[in-house]
Parts: sequence; structure tokens; C-alpha cells
Amino acid sequence: MASRILQKIFTAPTNGRSYSSGLRKVTLIPGDGIGPEISAAVQKIFAAANVPIEWESVDVTPVRGPDGRFGIPQAAIDSVNKNKIGLKGPLMTPVGKGHRSLNLALRKEFNLYANVRPCRSLEGYKTLYDNVDVVTIRENTEGEYSGIEHEIVDGVVQSIKLITEEASSRVAEFAFQYAQDNGRKKVTVVHKANIMRMSDGLFLRCAREMSKKYPNVKFEEKYLDTVCLNMVQDPNKYDVLVMPNLYGDILSDMCAGLVGGLGLTPSGNIGLNGALFESVHGTAPDIAGKDLANPTALLLSAVMMLKHMELSDHAAKIKQACFATIKEAKYLTGDLGGKAKCSEFTNEICAKL
Ligand code: IPM
Ligand code: MG
Repeated sequence: MASRILQKIFTAPTNGRSYSSGLRKVTLIPGDGIGPEISAAVQKIFAAANVPIEWESVDVTPVRGPDGRFGIPQAAIDSVNKNKIGLKGPLMTPVGKGHRSLNLALRKEFNLYANVRPCRSLEGYKTLYDNVDVVTIRENTEGEYSGIEHEIVDGVVQSIKLITEEASSRVAEFAFQYAQDNGRKKVTVVHKANIMRMSDGLFLRCAREMSKKYPNVKFEEKYLDTVCLNMVQDPNKYDVLVMPNLYGDILSDMCAGLVGGLGLTPSGNIGLNGALFESVHGTAPDIAGKDLANPTALLLSAVMMLKHMELSDHAAKIKQACFATIKEAKYLTGDLGGKAKCSEFTNEICAKL
């Protein structure tokens, strides 16, 4: 079953990959806070690079449905379902109350089951390590994020971590296929099956099973805590890592920290019927609307999107211009220790294209 799924992902004409010549429509969800300004920056850079896409901007401000619950507006759902590909800025998530995170709702709605987060050191931007190059692949639809929580009695709540064979196998297959397609050597499955013997045990078994189909990719099993320890001591120990949802959330932030933080790292949510690329950082309300935000994470997510759409030449050109601007360090935004405005950084990238 799993390989059938993969075949669909990589060949179906409806998944945003293959397309006829001419302009491809891409759904754009600018998002909240700094979202609109960094989205405008990406649009400007794409225009300067003559990328053959047309943006379809949609608003995802939650609307009340017939059941009284707030959710994604139908027009936004229709747009992603039609275009099969989208770029998304940060969306505000209420803490402990209000509507459920729209970030998660979007992943669930479109069954975007694999969350891919590459973390690579940027030349010219000094961090603790020089040659970090890891990719976390996070199960994106279940686990601790299932949202199944209830109060048993006063003062006692239960939260269910749901792990299924289907979701574990498909994300494992995605990870091995990703490694194979991208010339990667090793996949590490990250787990705590010593403690969560049934749930993580199942996830681990699915990865182990899948590894047999990919004899050219080295396979390794590691505990989550060990991976954290090793990762901050010597990130070169790892290559591609695959793991359940919450572990992936935490570990991907840690890896991002090794190369300069969430302002620099891209992310892609890939599913059967589409893909949504997004910056993982927050909405930064304190600097919103002030032309101070760093658009790099969203831009590099958009570059990942172009590769997914097989527009690799455009992707490479934009990436080079962005990296060169960072390396030159003449127009860096505040988070990178510079004084430039978002628009100045953006203009410099455009000038280099
Ligand atoms: C991420 C974010 C989200 C998550 C939040 C914004 C809901 O931290 O994409 O990693 O927890 O998955
Ligand atoms: Mg996170």
C-alpha cells in the first residue's frame, strides 16, 4: 500500500509537480503579523526572477461553520484543492483557548502527512557549527497532535497519542525515498520505544520494515534524548531523521537553532493531494508592519516549493541570490545582526538576480 501512495505522490498530475507549460497557479496564504510583508517580499523576488507562477492570495481568518465551530474558510480550502500547491506565512495560534491552531487544521485538511525541514549552515553567517546539514522528516497528522484530550475527573486530564501503522509507514517511506532521491546516505528513526513501547514501538517497527526496501540507504535507530545530546555535540552524526509528530516539532526547532534559527529555515508539508510550504517562525507582532522582518525562511520555503514543482533553475537562482546577500552582510535584518529593512534586503536579492 505504501509504495502505491508514494507512486501517487511522485507521479500524479494533480499533486502540484507535473504541469503543462504556462503559468501555474499557487495559493498564497500571507498570514498574520509579519506574514503580509514577508509574503510581499517573496512575491517581489519571484517577479524579479521571472518565475512562471501566478499567485492566488487567500484569507484564512477563521469563520464559524454550521456546527458553531471556527475553521478555515471554504474559499481557501477550494483554492488549495484546486491548485494543489501553496505558500503560507505564519498564523497566530491561540494558547489554551479559542479555535484550534489553523496551522494544524491546514495540515489535517489536506492530509499533508510529511513535514520536511532541511537545516543547513549558511556560508558567511557564523554559528556554533560550520557544516550542519540535516533534514528532519516529521509525521504530520497524528501522534500527540491528534487533539484527543478529555478530563476524566476534576484535576485529571488525559491526552491520547495516536499512532497508526498507515501513517507511520507512509512517513517512513517518504523519508527513505527522500534520502534516495536527494543523494542522502542515512535515515535515522528517532523514538522512545523503550518507554512508549506500543506507540513508538509501532512507529519504529514500520520504519524498520520500510528500511528493507531501501538497501542503499543506511538505517539507524536512536532514542530521542540521545539524538538531542549528539546533535548539539556533533551534528555531523546525522543526515535524514524521521520521527513522530511532537518529537519532530521539537527536534526541528533545535536543528534550526544550530544554523541561525527559525528566521532562516524552510519547511514543506507534503501530502497525497498537494503540498504547502511555510515558514515555521511566529507572527512577531512586536515588529509587524515596521518593515523589519527577515523574509528568508519564507523565501527558502518558496524555493523548496519551486523544486517540488520542478522549477529547479529558478529555485537555484533565487537561493544563490539570497545566500550571496547574507554572505555579503551589507543588507542584513536585525535578527542577523544587521540594520537593514526587510525591503532593503529584498531589493538586494532582486538586484542580484
Ligand atoms: C511548527 C509550529 C506549529 C506546530 C505551531 C505553530 C502550531 O511550531 O510548525 O513547528 O506545533 O507544529
Ligand atoms: Mg514547531
